Amino acid sequence: MNNTFAIALSTLAALMLGACSTGGAGTDYDQVHASVVKASFQPNGIATLDYLTQDEANRLCSAADVTGKPLDEKTAKAIEEAALKTIKMPSDGKFLGDWKEGEKIAQSGRGLTWTDKATDVNGGNCYNCHQMDKKEISFGNLGPSLYNYGKLRGVTDPTSAAAKPIVEYTWGKLWNSRAYNACSQMPRVGHKGILSEQQLQHVMALLLDPKSPVNQ
Ligand code: HEC
Repeated sequence: MNNTFAIALSTLAALMLGACSTGGAGTDYDQVHASVVKASFQPNGIATLDYLTQDEANRLCSAADVTGKPLDEKTAKAIEEAALKTIKMPSDGKFLGDWKEGEKIAQSGRGLTWTDKATDVNGGNCYNCHQMDKKEISFGNLGPSLYNYGKLRGVTDPTSAAAKPIVEYTWGKLWNSRAYNACSQMPRVGHKGILSEQQLQHVMALLLDPKSPVNQ
């Protein structure tokens, strides 16, 4: 881990905090900005202010973004290893459910906002960042196209030994995307409890079932 960088940053922050006043020389504008941002959010329903508190990996990745310097290899590896440990494989041993249900989950952007209730079922919001079924023409492109995801990886029988590595990787990627990319922008839908195990199985089928429209 890049300790020197982290220590340098926190020392700098501490120094600036000490020197902080209401303006003029020595004002810590990052600090001022952070408190303005914080004050502009109000908790509403199930949308609380938790997300304003970054976890360690978020903090390191944001700092890397700000400085334009990617994380050093050791820090990235440590984040990925910690994320890898959070992955829970399906408790019934089944990786694939029903792709038709998976399509509905991938389409749904519901959940976690102030207009949702705690009892509402969350969606995966996958189309917001990925192309999947070719018939859906509205999709985002922050993430790579997942059209033909299983087919391109040679998955003809997702339950076969040959398909095991790609099936397990895909489950892990969905569970906690950071396990394979320290600063991934993809939501950690398993780890964060956004999707249930059964919903994940359905989304897995959408990606990997040879009958799924994704693989036509
Ligand atoms: C906020 C945007 C975002 C959302 C929402 C999102 N992803 Fe991603 N996803 C990404 C990005 C960016 C990458 C590529 C970088 C990375 O690996 O983290 C990615 C990578 C992936 C990969 C790995 C692709 C490969 O070739 O290894 C899979 C599989 C995937 N996403 C599936 C999904 C599924 C299924 C959903 C819905 C449950 C989803 N994503 C939701 C942004 C997103």
